[in-house]
Amino acid sequence: SILPVILCGGSGTRLWPLSRESFPKQFVPLIEGKSLLQLTLERVKPLSGSAVCITNNEHRFLVQESMEAAGIDGRQFLEPAGRNTAAAMTVAALNSAADDLLLFLPADHHIPDVDAFARTVASGVPAATDGYFVTFGVQPTYPSSAYGYIQSGETLDSAASWVAQFVEKPTAEKAQQMLLAGGYFWNAGIFLVRAATLLDAVKKHAEDIFTACEQAVAQQTEDGSFVRLGGPAFLDCRSESIDYAVLEHHDRVAVVPFAGAWSDVGSWNAVAELSPADDHNNRVSGQGHTVNASNTYINAPHRPVVALGTDNLLIIDTPDALLVADTRQAEQVKQVVQLLNEQA
Ligand code: GDD
Ligand code: MG
Repeated sequence: SILPVILCGGSGTRLWPLSRESFPKQFVPLIEGKSLLQLTLERVKPLSGSAVCITNNEHRFLVQESMEAAGIDGRQFLEPAGRNTAAAMTVAALNSAADDLLLFLPADHHIPDVDAFARTVASGVPAATDGYFVTFGVQPTYPSSAYGYIQSGETLDSAASWVAQFVEKPTAEKAQQMLLAGGYFWNAGIFLVRAATLLDAVKKHAEDIFTACEQAVAQQTEDGSFVRLGGPAFLDCRSESIDYAVLEHHDRVAVVPFAGAWSDVGSWNAVAELSPADDHNNRVSGQGHTVNASNTYINAPHRPVVALGTDNLLIIDTPDALLVADTRQAEQVKQVVQLLNEQA
């Protein structure tokens, strides 16, 4: 049976000021009043009656709220501080039976077609059962440096192919080369893998992470559905993503193409695309209004906000902070948050 494990530790600073350290983007009600975490939990419901979340101790009640709203039961593994996805995935696997098929999912992605998603995941089961670390591949559309690139090799079964090469976050130049060469997917950040397969792979390619996680799990304490990882051991763990720690080095990786719409909602431009555009490519959410404007996005949940005659503008209004940005610099919001933190 499949056990969904939601990776819920991100901070989403590129969506400031709606996303904050105390209220990261996966908890923000972005789509029809629902958070991306709630939508993620609803998406896995057809696959399994329960799910586990792994998150920061401080966010446990926000996660609990989303789990209740989605009608999903399960434990939460609580980290004293994030140590990236290799550690988070390893502690989840250490808390599972060897044969459990773990479906790891980012908490903050948007995948509107729930049925296509469920079918694609199910088609990865044979390869995962066979001991492959199964990834899901999305058709790349531009030479992004924000994603992992998967080169598919020989066919394994009707759905999966062997992964000839995995390249995490290449330079723009390398990404361009791979797009031109063809045969590459973007890594969707979703993984299907037997618990034992994952643990063997981590032990092989990142033994220090395996050992630190083993200690953190040996020292974990339970409090109802909350499981707190052993603090000192977990904090001593190296902070590395599963992509760099394992996938770039592992032999038995498979890819299943995912044809449905997929967005990692990584910037305000990606959020804007969740709302319909008018004839001049303006989009609004909440009480935003555009007049004689083009390519303008307004997110105004609390009060009316009007853009008159603007072009290529993002306006994000919150009760205590306002962002006005050129759409072409949406990626820079991350740096703005760093700057604000340094000044505070
Ligand atoms: N619990 C926990 N603890 N979750 C974490 C931690 C952590 O320390 N760090 C990250 N996560 C969660 C994030 O919340 C997110 O849901 C997921 O794990 C992936 O982490 P990101 O930090 O968003 O990774 P990324 O976007 O840079 O890259 C990954 O995703 C891309 C697709 O969006 C990689 O897998 C890429 O290869 C992939 O293309
Ligand atoms: Mg991400």
